Amino acid sequence: MDRIIISGGTALRGTVRVSGSKNAALPILMTALLTDEPITLRNIPRLRDVATALKLLAGLGVQSRWQGEEELWLHCPALVQDEAPYDLVKTMRASFLVLGPLLARAGHARVSTPGGCAIGARPVNLHIAGIRALGARVRLRHGYVEAHCERLAGGRVWLDAPSVGATENVMMAAVLARGTTTIENAAREPEVQDLARMLNAMGGRVRGAGSHVVEIEGVERLRGVAHEVIPDRIEAGSFMIAAAITGGDILVERAPFEHLEAVIAKLEECGAVVRREGGGLRVSRRAALLPVEVRTLPYPGFPTDLQAQMMALLTQARGTSVITETIFESRFSHALELIRMGADIVIKGATAVVRGPSRLSGAPVMASDLRASMGLILAGLAAENTTELSRVYHLDRGYEAIEKKLGALGASIERVDR
Ligand code: EPZ
Repeated sequence: MDRIIISGGTALRGTVRVSGSKNAALPILMTALLTDEPITLRNIPRLRDVATALKLLAGLGVQSRWQGEEELWLHCPALVQDEAPYDLVKTMRASFLVLGPLLARAGHARVSTPGGCAIGARPVNLHIAGIRALGARVRLRHGYVEAHCERLAGGRVWLDAPSVGATENVMMAAVLARGTTTIENAAREPEVQDLARMLNAMGGRVRGAGSHVVEIEGVERLRGVAHEVIPDRIEAGSFMIAAAITGGDILVERAPFEHLEAVIAKLEECGAVVRREGGGLRVSRRAALLPVEVRTLPYPGFPTDLQAQMMALLTQARGTSVITETIFESRFSHALELIRMGADIVIKGATAVVRGPSRLSGAPVMASDLRASMGLILAGLAAENTTELSRVYHLDRGYEAIEKKLGALGASIERVDR
């Protein structure tokens, strides 16, 4: 099993290029099911989750091949079956995003429910309510969602929570429905907006993505197109925090400024300096880190996927910070590992009180979600002596060659297989 070994204490300096967004790529990969014509996707990151999605799609009848480092060709001339099996959906929750496209393409789908994971129960009730509002007959049997509908009919969908996945599943179901669908209290994330751009390029009629009301006018068919996926704002934010926690100076190339406003504001409040430069963001920090309050919120608020990374940073701030996690019910597992490294953190329900600065000492650590893993790597970069991170497969789900990118910035980091 791979491990990552980090020797801390180096200020990271240099330039790093952000890969394509995992959370934009995953739903956009599923749009291959919505047309019998080939699609070409650019700026696709080489991640474990992308490989899992391609394996799932292959089982459904989607041919795919890489055309260069970051370009994928996909074609689904016809579905060969309509089932997303438990072993794949359990591995990657985003597999559940085939539900909408399968219903739209074939009128039936049998998709395993994802079950919980390390950060929470992660139910799919909003996805199911959404497709039911479009006329699908849905039942839950043996851990699978079984959905049928000759042809979906446009309807009004109210989402109790602005769920990213539910918004995306309903958009993909509605795009070929008869009539118009409105999704109210829709998620506004950039990844939802990128999916809408892809669907519209294919001939869909999606309006309002990025606002709380998305309107989808159903069309008869969609065509194959080429699309470039947006850069990964979470990877970009992770490198920005790496500059801040090590007191370095990093140019994060292709960092999507317009998707990072909450993160930039929070890092500046901490004392980091963020400047736009050459299509990216240059982040440096020389002054002492200042404590702040962080509250994770749906976009455009501070992203929950950067909460662990921010907690690592705030262990080095001079004073008391408070982090409130409002999106997932148990996303503080990294706090226990940071405490083992010497951090002073007290968890009270959905709130973590972080007192600093703490002298972090390297330790053997592990995490059970990919963003927590990144938080522990950032702590290792600031810690004295050596940190050894196990369960690296979580990291590989969402970060492309992270040890190479951090190593190129001067970090003493290596991947070992032991
Ligand atoms: C997406 O997950 C992302 N994944 C997550 O990133 C991200 O943390 C999350 O959005 C929130 O921003 C992808 O895009 C592939 P949600 P998703 O549905 O769609 C509750 C990462 O590290 N909810 O917006 O699953 C849910 O329990 C991953 O890249 C319901 O109650 O998130 C949670 O509390 C981690 N019922 C809240 O909504 C539902 O039917 C937000 O979940 C659906 C969700």
